[in-house]
Amino acid sequence: MRIPKSALQLSIFALVIVLIVSLHNYTLPYLRLGAAKVGGFEETVLDSSTPSPSQGDSNLEKPFEADQFGLEGQRTRFQPGIPKVPGSDYSRVMVIPRTKDEDIGWIAEELPGLEISVYVVDEPNAPLHPPKNKGHEVMVYLSYIIDHYDNLPDIIVFMHAHRWTYHNNELLGADASQMIQRLSNEHVIREGFVNMRCNWAPGCPKWLFFNSTEELMSKQEESYLAKSWSELFPLEPFPPYLAQPCCAQFAVSSERIYSIPRSRFAFYRDWMIKTPLTDYVSGRIMEYSWQYIFTGKGAMCPAEHLCYCDAFGICFGGSTQYEHFVQLEDRKKEFESDLEKWKEADQLFRNSSADRTPDEISNSTAPDQKQQEHLQEQIGMIEKEREVLKKRAMARGDDPRLRAEECGRTWTEGDGF
Ligand SMILES: *[C@@H]1O[C@H](CO)[C@@H](O)[C@H](O)[C@H]1NC(C)=O
Ligand SMILES: *[C@@H]1O[C@H](CO)[C@@H](O)[C@H](O)[C@H]1NC(C)=O
Ligand SMILES: *[C@@H]1O[C@H](CO)[C@@H](O)[C@H](O)[C@H]1NC(C)=O
Repeated sequence: MRIPKSALQLSIFALVIVLIVSLHNYTLPYLRLGAAKVGGFEETVLDSSTPSPSQGDSNLEKPFEADQFGLEGQRTRFQPGIPKVPGSDYSRVMVIPRTKDEDIGWIAEELPGLEISVYVVDEPNAPLHPPKNKGHEVMVYLSYIIDHYDNLPDIIVFMHAHRWTYHNNELLGADASQMIQRLSNEHVIREGFVNMRCNWAPGCPKWLFFNSTEELMSKQEESYLAKSWSELFPLEPFPPYLAQPCCAQFAVSSERIYSIPRSRFAFYRDWMIKTPLTDYVSGRIMEYSWQYIFTGKGAMCPAEHLCYCDAFGICFGGSTQYEHFVQLEDRKKEFESDLEKWKEADQLFRNSSADRTPDEISNSTAPDQKQQEHLQEQIGMIEKEREVLKKRAMARGDDPRLRAEECGRTWTEGDGF
């Protein structure tokens, strides 16, 4: 049978097209993005998405599988987890990045028995270390997930090496040890991803926008966000904005991690290693992307009172009561500032008295001593009231029924937290 020449040409042409398309099936989105959005950065992105033979990557055996990097298809949809029966144990590990010089002795002292996984960022000979000291804690968090993916505990708490810091929870003495101790396993299992900080500022309710072009000192990373997003989540549209309480300390259930393929975490880490962005900027971008990675939500700002109640068992009874507690702190700060001013005025008076004539002194007025006593008294009263309220809130939080009630969860007799 004779095949017409034109039909033969056509089928060869079609075959070539099919070949090209299938070969580029995976890299195509990147090429498109590289040209359209991320201009100038496509080489780096291609590097990470197309394994080269010299890397000896095991992915090579199936280089054209659609979900090779777990980037295709629908974003993982959030499914609340189901806690174990009340009283069950949960395995936990705390993942900590540290430098050679950082002291983490507080963990063994305060949290004996807690399993920890410590990555030394600036010591390539340490048993656990990230492939590159870049991106602050991000490189370590991702490395832990990649290294331990096959054997994760129920709950992984990603924390910094320091015990006290301004960005720890104020109501828990800014103390990481208290935060770990009070963290509800059940809450983490239900939510899948829990920011360890309840206080909104900084980071909530809206933090990073995708339309920023100006480099702000306070949010240096914002102007790089749109481009980075296109590289990190190439098939996903921008959410309206990114927001979550600051500073990249959070707990995740292994169930939530397992809803995402390991290869996707490897892809994020690869981006981290290869991006020309600085350590600081790349770290910050990921800091505000974790909630998106684990829950698919751009913004995750749970009401502070609900966070304190369900995650840490400090339940004031509702938002009004919590607000009252917060306002007490604000008032205390005002009194403290007044007291500071009073002390300054008093000091000034004393200083200047030293080189004045008795006449001058008698003419000027010393700050009123009563005023100082009044301020100190007010501060003391507020401190006492706050202490009482906090104790009551902790007692309320110890009751699983009250905790569920305040957080709007259904609860039946016999249920745990
Ligand atoms: C970016 O978008 C937000 C919200 O849509 C808007 O409030 C803001 O003014 C925009 N900023 C710039 C620089 O266009
Ligand atoms: C008062 O004098 C002390 C000691 O000379 C000095 O340190 C302090 O700053 C002065 N305070 C004021 C308010 O002038
Ligand atoms: C003391 O105060 C009086 C009345 O205010 C004023 O006339 C006098 O000049 C002042 N004396 C000094 C030394 O400042």
